[in-house]
Amino acid sequence: MTIASWNSRFETGVEIIDAQHRALFAALNQLTEAFRSGTSGEHVKAGLAALLTYAAEHFQTEEAFMRERGYPDLAVHAAEHVRLVERAHDLETQFREGRPVAMELTIFLADLLAQHIDEFDTAMVRFLKNEPPIVTVKRL
Ligand SMILES: [Fe+2]
Repeated sequence: MTIASWNSRFETGVEIIDAQHRALFAALNQLTEAFRSGTSGEHVKAGLAALLTYAAEHFQTEEAFMRERGYPDLAVHAAEHVRLVERAHDLETQFREGRPVAMELTIFLADLLAQHIDEFDTAMVRFLKNEPPIVTVKRL
């Protein structure tokens, strides 16, 4: 079951970031499948571990890019990474405690990831590529 499909909207053009984003979506989809099909706890445990490993690796990559280039919104962006990791840990806790809300949480996490890429990663990549930020004009 696919809960979050990769689409070109998420493409940043930075190869390593795109590859890692794809891996995160794939890990989330695999995890949802493990929950849905009621396969053994071992599958879910392995899926959660993979997701957390990919996430940690990916966030380190992005934060290293931002630090290296003196990105002014590094602190805000890194705080969002912490929030995403906390949500993934919530998921792990709920699973360990045997609560039945796990699948909804993976969907929530996939939405959060999509939103993070749209909002935070797009701005970061524009900066890394020396492109001007997209200014959104709020209409009254
Ligand atoms: Fe990010």
